[in-house]
Amino acid sequence: MRKTVLIIIFTLLPMPITDCIRTTMEKGFQVETEISIIPEPQKVEKLSGCFTFSRKTQIILHTDVPEAKCVVQYFADRLLNVAALELRISEKVTGRADNLIIFKQVQNENLGDEGYRLAVGKSKIVLEANQPMGLFYGVQTIFQLLPAEIYAEETNSCVEWKIPCVKIFDKPRYSWRGMMLDVSRHFFPKEFIKDFIDYLAMHKMNKFHLHLNDDQGWRIEIKKYPKLTEIGAWRVDRDEQHWNSRGRQKEGEEATYGGFYTQEDIKEIVAYAETRFITIVPEIEMPGHCLAALAAYPEYSCTGGPFTVPPGGVWPIKDIYCAGSDSTFEFLQGILTEVIALFPGEYVHIGGDEVNKQEWKKCHKCKERIKSEGLKDVKELQSYFTRRIEKFLISKNRRLIGWDEILEGGLAPDATVMSWRGIEGGIEAAQEGHDVVMSPTSHCYFDYYQGEPENEPMAIGGFLPLKKVYSFEPTPEELSSEEAEHILGAQANLWTEFIDTPEHAQYMTFPRIAAIAEVIWSKKEQRDWDDFTKRLKMQFLRYDYAKINYAKISY
Ligand code: ACM
Ligand code: ZN
Repeated sequence: MRKTVLIIIFTLLPMPITDCIRTTMEKGFQVETEISIIPEPQKVEKLSGCFTFSRKTQIILHTDVPEAKCVVQYFADRLLNVAALELRISEKVTGRADNLIIFKQVQNENLGDEGYRLAVGKSKIVLEANQPMGLFYGVQTIFQLLPAEIYAEETNSCVEWKIPCVKIFDKPRYSWRGMMLDVSRHFFPKEFIKDFIDYLAMHKMNKFHLHLNDDQGWRIEIKKYPKLTEIGAWRVDRDEQHWNSRGRQKEGEEATYGGFYTQEDIKEIVAYAETRFITIVPEIEMPGHCLAALAAYPEYSCTGGPFTVPPGGVWPIKDIYCAGSDSTFEFLQGILTEVIALFPGEYVHIGGDEVNKQEWKKCHKCKERIKSEGLKDVKELQSYFTRRIEKFLISKNRRLIGWDEILEGGLAPDATVMSWRGIEGGIEAAQEGHDVVMSPTSHCYFDYYQGEPENEPMAIGGFLPLKKVYSFEPTPEELSSEEAEHILGAQANLWTEFIDTPEHAQYMTFPRIAAIAEVIWSKKEQRDWDDFTKRLKMQFLRYDYAKINYAKISY
């Protein structure tokens, strides 16, 4: 009997102690001496001592801008939920002023819109920025100064929540720090989209490009054209077969795989992204990669169909929108009108890649368009298509961005180019005075293998290890300094033909996202692979606490 009691006591007692032992410090990180921030800030000056968060810590707010108040609330919420610390937020100090966190909006032209200054002393933290987004990035840095447990979902009252004294000055190198997720080839639930927004925020990225339609699925509710989701969002399930050998839907066969975001979902996603200072760039592909839309509305193709939503690979991309028919443009403008109403960002991505124009060569309406517009060939017809859509977007106060094929046949006047088939398209566009986002397959395609294929889950091909991502330079040497101003930044892309779960999407994204984030945020001269891999150890611990399925084979 006594033995049993003892056994019970023994098994029960050590539990909380074990929990407390598993802290960041015990995993080999000395919070007081090691600073491990990704992406690396511009200037870090280490000082002696620590600031310790406690129940006495007060947050003082020197701003009345609502977005800045939201940042402070976001910070306080994390400390409450994870550290069980309910910090008082006020405009003035009450009682003893020996443990303060001061958030300040300032006017410092060195900081720009996204920069921040952080001064951590033993009794006071001061975070300054011109804009709320700068404060938000400063908060991300504070999270990375804290023990990695701050990234956990559960409350942990065993950790000592302290950060090293330090002075940091930081701002990004580029304004476009993006990542694309393809939700067409496989559909990802709204909850994962929100998680992804948090992943981007953690890495100080600010553009989330959502590839909302392709041949294999239409993923956004458009009220004027309900068949886009009734028909276009669903395909037959052939997931047990290789992507490129899946047979088309048979007569009478039910389309059961798919999904889409309602307009209410999109509003929720956009609102969530705004709280993380992330702009969502919606992509509506045209004039190709649109079979799911044509399965619903075949009248906007050259041949009239019929079409079904393909469950796997399609090549060549020949079933495309008819460029000769005005009703095609009315259809697309109807879609874009609803898309613009949902997404407040400056840019709409119109795709434009990999269009096989053989049907345009045969279609009498397209041939007539070429003649009436005095175009030379079908390449110029795609350029006509893009220009016409651009005119519409500009009339709605938006800018057009497209894959680098939009250069062929002449670039639309104000178009921005996303250079993916290499950096050459980007160079050409920048030399012509157009803005550019660099996203070449060679360094930015996260659907490529990151290790030896025999040890990795099946991927589309390619080979893009972490070190290669880290070696990317978005601004090509051949550009003059004036031309180089047109390089807005860079973006990684996650195409999902071979990726069908959130866990797999995480695996392909992490830790390569850390490398691309540092490429885009930090100064070129600061790039240091050995130092990055040292800091990555702490980043892995953060990913562990955030329950992110990252690739451990990376280096
Ligand atoms: C692309 O990868 N087709 C843009
Ligand atoms: Zn046509």
